Amino acid sequence: MSGIGDKFQQETKYEPSRMPIHRLVWDSKPTLYKEYPVAQKIKLPSFELADGISLDQTLKQRKSIRDFRQKPISKEQLSYLLWASTGIQRIEDGYEYRTAPSAGALYPIETYLIVNDVRELEAGVYHYSIKAHQLEQLKQGEFRQEIAAAALGQGMCATAAAVFVWSAVFARCKWKYSQRGYRYIYLEAGHIAENLALAAVSLNLGSCEIGALYDDHVNAILGIDGTDESVLCMAVVGAPA
Ligand SMILES: Cc1cc2nc3c(=O)[nH]c(=O)nc-3n(C[C@H](O)[C@H](O)[C@H](O)COP(=O)(O)O)c2cc1C
Repeated sequence: MSGIGDKFQQETKYEPSRMPIHRLVWDSKPTLYKEYPVAQKIKLPSFELADGISLDQTLKQRKSIRDFRQKPISKEQLSYLLWASTGIQRIEDGYEYRTAPSAGALYPIETYLIVNDVRELEAGVYHYSIKAHQLEQLKQGEFRQEIAAAALGQGMCATAAAVFVWSAVFARCKWKYSQRGYRYIYLEAGHIAENLALAAVSLNLGSCEIGALYDDHVNAILGIDGTDESVLCMAVVGAPA
């Protein structure tokens, strides 16, 4: 049985005889940071870098956690998880590089948060402003049931302290890699998701990645169009039961 996925895999292959010819048009390079200028900004606290647990232990302990205690996580923990998953970790020649690799350093992935239970942070929908390491509040109120419904009824979205939602701004990567860029976009979401999973372990928190979701229901919660930008996957985080 073959379908659109098989066709995509074949048609986006690099082969010596039919390499796409890309001419980079620098004037139309998409911006790498999405901003919500009118949204309320919430500063994220500085955090103590997690220590005391080796990478070896972290890798051995990581597993998908789907049952959570009704216990909030702290803003410091959230701040660390956001930075560790996709924050800026170095600047070279004026260019900002992040904790996860990105094809061509074009960083197509955006991070949103559904906050259910984080100390000193109102429940709601937020966008992570990577450049400023701060949150932008997009919606106020409880979205735990709605995000669970959008994840095919997976109850862990309602009981976790927070749900990380990753979208792609496709044009950023397509500017250089055209249709092959979709491969890189999906890979990059995986890098970020694994960073989050390992960072959660280092804080004695649990997480579970979620790929089963109604795309346009999640897009509607975030307020993105589902075409130029669309959800890719999510992950729940919280204190394990
Ligand atoms: C891309 C992807 C999508 C996933 N989607 C879901 C999901 O929707 N619901 C769920 O409960 N687990 C989901 N998982 C978690 C897997 O079920 C889990 O990683 C797998 O069973 C291996 O177990 P472990 O993570 O504990 O090692 C997903 C994992 C990945 C990588």
